[in-house]
Amino acid sequence: MLRSHTCGELRLSNINDNVTLCGWVQKRRDFGSMSFVDLRDRYGITQLSFNEDYDKTLVESARSLAREFVIQITGKVTERSNKNLKIPTGEVEIVVDSLKILNASLTPPFTIEDDTDGGEEIRLKYRYLDLRRNPVQSKLLVRHAANKAIRNFLNGEDFVEVETPYLIKSTPEGARDFVVPSRMNQNQFYALPQSPQTFKQLLMVSGLDRYYQVVKCFRDEDFRADRQPEFTQIDCEMTFVERDDVLKIFEQMIRQLFHESVNYDLGEIPVITYADAIETYGSDKPDMRFGMTFNNITSIAKGYNFGIFDNAESILSICAKGAASLTRKEIDAITDYVKRPQIGAKGLIYCRVNEDGSFKSSVDKFFDQEALALWAEANKAEPGDIIFVLSGDLSSTQKQLNELRLHLGDKLNLRKTNEFKACWVVDFPLLEWDEETERYHAMHHPFTSPIVEDLSLIETDPGAIRANAYDMAINGMEVGGGSIRIHDKALQQRMFDLLGFTTEEAKAQFGFLMNAFEYGAPPHGGIAFGFDRLCAILTGTDSIRDVIAFPKNNMGRDVMIDAPSPISDEQKKELGL
Ligand code: AMO
Repeated sequence: MLRSHTCGELRLSNINDNVTLCGWVQKRRDFGSMSFVDLRDRYGITQLSFNEDYDKTLVESARSLAREFVIQITGKVTERSNKNLKIPTGEVEIVVDSLKILNASLTPPFTIEDDTDGGEEIRLKYRYLDLRRNPVQSKLLVRHAANKAIRNFLNGEDFVEVETPYLIKSTPEGARDFVVPSRMNQNQFYALPQSPQTFKQLLMVSGLDRYYQVVKCFRDEDFRADRQPEFTQIDCEMTFVERDDVLKIFEQMIRQLFHESVNYDLGEIPVITYADAIETYGSDKPDMRFGMTFNNITSIAKGYNFGIFDNAESILSICAKGAASLTRKEIDAITDYVKRPQIGAKGLIYCRVNEDGSFKSSVDKFFDQEALALWAEANKAEPGDIIFVLSGDLSSTQKQLNELRLHLGDKLNLRKTNEFKACWVVDFPLLEWDEETERYHAMHHPFTSPIVEDLSLIETDPGAIRANAYDMAINGMEVGGGSIRIHDKALQQRMFDLLGFTTEEAKAQFGFLMNAFEYGAPPHGGIAFGFDRLCAILTGTDSIRDVIAFPKNNMGRDVMIDAPSPISDEQKKELGL
């Protein structure tokens, strides 16, 4: 080893030890006959001191050191006169007696400090330098701890890790495929897996019983902070289980994950139905860190000659506790927020509950105190609270009020990054009607089993069939989703029919799965967690980019290696392109 210790481990108990350290020069300070260098590695920072009175040439070489030089030093651990109690090594320094420059460094394009001066794009281009910074590196360490906790749990529960192929054909998870041309089969293409869905089902047919894989998935989707074109799933499948068995075991896994990686007790994870989630939060991934649930006031707010309400299908309200002190200007800003085209509310109505119990609303012309008292009652509003109301068609109003609720949650500091609340959402609709293509799409994927009691609706009202599917959301982010699968060939065939596949199309695309169902396919079900999203939540960041070592930018580019990039004509010819 080129070193005896790391830069994070020396303490007062090491005084007088002779040590050898290696690392990067974080900072150099020169004072008269002395120079000090902060030496950094993954484990911490140790102060080095160079004194002209002992060795003049050594101080001269120390003064040639610039930021990010890689050096090796030997010296004696001594107690610092000027202690820095903010860092664990801050009570000692090394009085250096030899210095070797292992490698010089150009001046980095941004400062390697916790608060850097570098913008996002330059940091992505020099990602290996960005990864030297504590806030970035520490996220990868949490990711590693999370990976370990999950593997420990699944290994302990008898799950077997099996690798499935990356060069496959399309799996329908609802995104576009990335395709790979085949040189040996010209004009034919592999697709990179959007998930290992069909393979893990086949592993259940094979009798593996419990499978998992920490696996890369590839989806050609539009950019969002919680999406990357390649991302990692914790993909799992189990045989001979029902929904509640799956929920139980993965609730344990997620609780253990939070416990082991950030020492947080998630508590029991509530289960709510999709219908309830939409009615109370306007979202199928509700942020449960705070209340502010929806109250439908359609029946009590109509009939006051206020056209907007009288003509609306639905009038929905929420109560922000203790927020009556929001100023007019703040309310105007909130109104502008919900009127942005992305949200699309036409306007925002509010009613303050004054300290004396009287009401002051933005529609006092139409609603007297008695009428507003009904709103307050429905919202359980008390003095000091403010009620916000949106109206319109039900579905749009729910979506808009969800955005407003989350915005108010941010504004009122109810969405703390060091607090975590998970929930299961169950009983999703099986199918989603797509206006554009005028056909049903599978809301989860085509292999999801319908809830048995709803099967009779298959001929009469397929849109009303509920799926035996479940999602987990944490802090308002969908972190996982799965279902009990269809394991019967005839039902799977019927499902493909409903989704508008002809028998030939279904056979061409999924014949292998349907065939497998004829050889003793057991009942099975599973789930996949978005590992990057879990890590983003654990580290309190909004963007999953921050927890991926080498992420893509918002155009799907890796700006460091410059990909995607053109290929040579020769390569194209070889591939028959
Ligand atoms: P689903 O499509 O819901 O299910 O994906 C599972 C989880 O993966 C995460 N995720 C993503 N994370 C980052 N970037 C993306 N582009 C991205 N897309 C999805 C989400 C999501 O909850 N085969 C099924 C699982 C199953 O049925 O077992 C599937 O892939 O956190």
